[in-house]
Amino acid sequence: MSLEVLWFYIFICLLALIFLFTLIIYVICKNTNPYPKMYRYEEEKYYFDINTGEKKLFPSLEDNWSVNISVIVPAYNEEIRLPTMMDECLKYLEERRRIGISYEIIVVSDGSTDKTIDVAQSYAKKFNTVRVLALKKNRGKGGAVRLGMQSARGSVLLFADADGATTFNDIEKLDESLTNILGFNYITSAAKTSISHAVICGSRAHLEEEEKSKRSFFRLLLMHGFHFLVKLLCVKSVHDTQCGFKMLTRASARLIFTALHIERWAFDVEMLYIAEALKLPIAEVAVEWQEIDGSKIIPFWSWLQMGKDLALISFRYKIGAWKILKSKDD
Ligand SMILES: *[C@@H]1O[C@H](CO)[C@@H](O)[C@H](O)[C@H]1NC(C)=O
Ligand SMILES: *[C@@H]1O[C@H](CO)[C@@H](O)[C@H](O)[C@H]1NC(C)=O
Repeated sequence: MSLEVLWFYIFICLLALIFLFTLIIYVICKNTNPYPKMYRYEEEKYYFDINTGEKKLFPSLEDNWSVNISVIVPAYNEEIRLPTMMDECLKYLEERRRIGISYEIIVVSDGSTDKTIDVAQSYAKKFNTVRVLALKKNRGKGGAVRLGMQSARGSVLLFADADGATTFNDIEKLDESLTNILGFNYITSAAKTSISHAVICGSRAHLEEEEKSKRSFFRLLLMHGFHFLVKLLCVKSVHDTQCGFKMLTRASARLIFTALHIERWAFDVEMLYIAEALKLPIAEVAVEWQEIDGSKIIPFWSWLQMGKDLALISFRYKIGAWKILKSKDD
C-alpha cells in the first residue's frame, strides 16, 4: 500500500469519527425540554368502577395519602402471568388489612393488546381495593409505573413486576429497611410526614453467581457491560438497578416521578440517578427471585436502546439539558 492510500484511509476514518461524534452530540442535545412531558390522555385520568358501573377520577400524587400501601403493577400483555402475581399479592395484603393496614393495587395495562385489562378487572370485581389504569398506547414500563404512581393514594408506594418473579412477602424486608432509615415504622406510624424520604430497592445481586451458569456468554457480556456503564455514568450506590420491586415514600415518589424523563427499560436507572442527585436515602435489600416461565428476555436492540438511554441520563443532566423540578427542601 502506498503512503497516499494510507493517508486517504486515515482521512476517511477521521471524517467518519467526526460524523459519529456530531451525531452523538446531536442525539444528546435534541428535544431537550428540561422537564418531562407529562402528557396523559383524558381517558387515562379515570378508572372504571366495575361494581357500580361508574367512571371515577384517579387522585393525584400531590394529594394527601389515604391508604397505607399502594402497589403499582405495570403490565403489558400479561394475561397469563398476572393471576399468579395478583393472587399472591392479594393474599398477603388482605392478611395485613385484617390488622388495620389498608392498601390498594393499581394494575396499569401498558396498552396491552391481549386480555390483561379483563383479567385485572375480574380482580377489581372481587376486591374493591383493586383499580385498573388502562393506558391508551404502549409507553414502556417506566411510563406505566409513572402514571400508576401519579394515580396512587398510598403513604408508601411499591411497584412490582406483573410476572410475579418476586415473592411478595419480601415486602416485609423492604419495610424493615424503611424503618431502619427513618427510625420509625413508616407504614404503621402516625409520625410519618411529607418530608419522610426513602427509596428501597429489591435486589437480585446475591443471586448473580447462580444466574451466571444459566446464561449464554453473550448475555453475560451484555449484562456486565450494562452494570459497568450504569456504575460509570449514572448510579453508584445500587448494584441491581433493574429489579422490578422498589418501594418509596410518598414524598420521594413526588420528587422522582415529576422529574422522570425515560419511559422505557432504563427508567429505573434515571429514577435512582434522581434519588442520588437529590441525596434521598437509598437502600438495597436482597429479595427472592423466581423466573416464571415466559419471562420476557430483553431483545438485543433494547440493550442498545438502554445503552443510549444511560448516556442520555448522564450527559443531559450534566449539561443541564434535563433538570430536576423540585428538591428535597422545597
Ligand atoms: C394534607 O395534610 C396536611 C398535613 O397533614 C394538611 O395541613 C392539609 O390541609 C392536607 N391537605 C388536604 C388537601 O387535605
Ligand atoms: C394505616 O395503618 C395504621 C396502622 O395499622 C392504621 O391505624 C391506619 O388507620 C391506617 N390508615 C389508613 C388510612 O388506612
